[in-house]
Amino acid sequence: MDPLLNFTGKVAVITGAAQGFGKLLAQELAKRGAKLVVSDINEQGVHQMADEIAATGAEIIAMKCDVSKSDDCKAMVDAAIEEFGRVDIGVNNAGIAHEFMPLHDIDEAILDHQFAINVKGVQFGMRYQIQQMLKQGEGAILNVSSMAGIGGAPRGSAYSMAKHAVIGLTKTGAVEYGRSNIRINAICPFFTLTAMVTNFADKEMQGKMGRNAPMNRLGEPKEIVAMMLMILSPANTYMTGQCIAIDGGVSAA
Ligand code: NAI
Repeated sequence: MDPLLNFTGKVAVITGAAQGFGKLLAQELAKRGAKLVVSDINEQGVHQMADEIAATGAEIIAMKCDVSKSDDCKAMVDAAIEEFGRVDIGVNNAGIAHEFMPLHDIDEAILDHQFAINVKGVQFGMRYQIQQMLKQGEGAILNVSSMAGIGGAPRGSAYSMAKHAVIGLTKTGAVEYGRSNIRINAICPFFTLTAMVTNFADKEMQGKMGRNAPMNRLGEPKEIVAMMLMILSPANTYMTGQCIAIDGGVSAA
């Protein structure tokens, strides 16, 4: 195996892993030797995907974790320590979108829901991952922000607020824990063809959305996960505090 992507023996915890980026990342890390704790609010879904990965011979445990609950995030990290003795990689991926609507229609309930999952959920994950990584003297955290975390997202203002906050958490964490050898980065994908997008956009709408990108198309989940693997690579040892756009050129235009 190419040493750049050799995760043999690395212990990773991933939130929101029942489907989409989280599931694909778990499959790719398992193929490359990682031991996994996968979690999701969708308990049945996460157990099903973990069973599929376990059938390939990988070491994996699945559990329900609602990232908006601090205790659930603690339990996820505790499970990794109990089962595998450490946490090398924390991926705070769970997130939700909201219905597109103008900023002046966004009410407090939408804001609270966005912040509970997309912001507090990331902080809770980081908190317990970092507590363990400090004991180990090393670790790598990857938060999933969005292009909506870098620029404005018309009709997605609450999501954009929340994803900007993830970037604040990522950069602050990188500065606070650089000396402790804990790398903290984020990815900022443009619209990508997971259920989050295909649930609301049919092929015609996907085509229209894709025309906003210089590459004239939306992202494929495997293209996002390839970059997640590279950022988490055990060979990627000097990069921290970065929020990397994976966007078909949108941010360059
Ligand atoms: P997805 O909808 O396929 O997967 C999200 C997963 O998170 C689901 O399995 C869901 O059950 C889980 N989840 C939802 N609420 C949760 C909670 N409270 N606790 C734990 N798990 C919960 O979506 P996708 O695309 O894989 O999204 C992953 C991340 O990527 C999210 O943070 C999303 O905001 C972000 N993202 C997605 C983009 C896209 O176009 N697909 C673009 C930019 C960012």
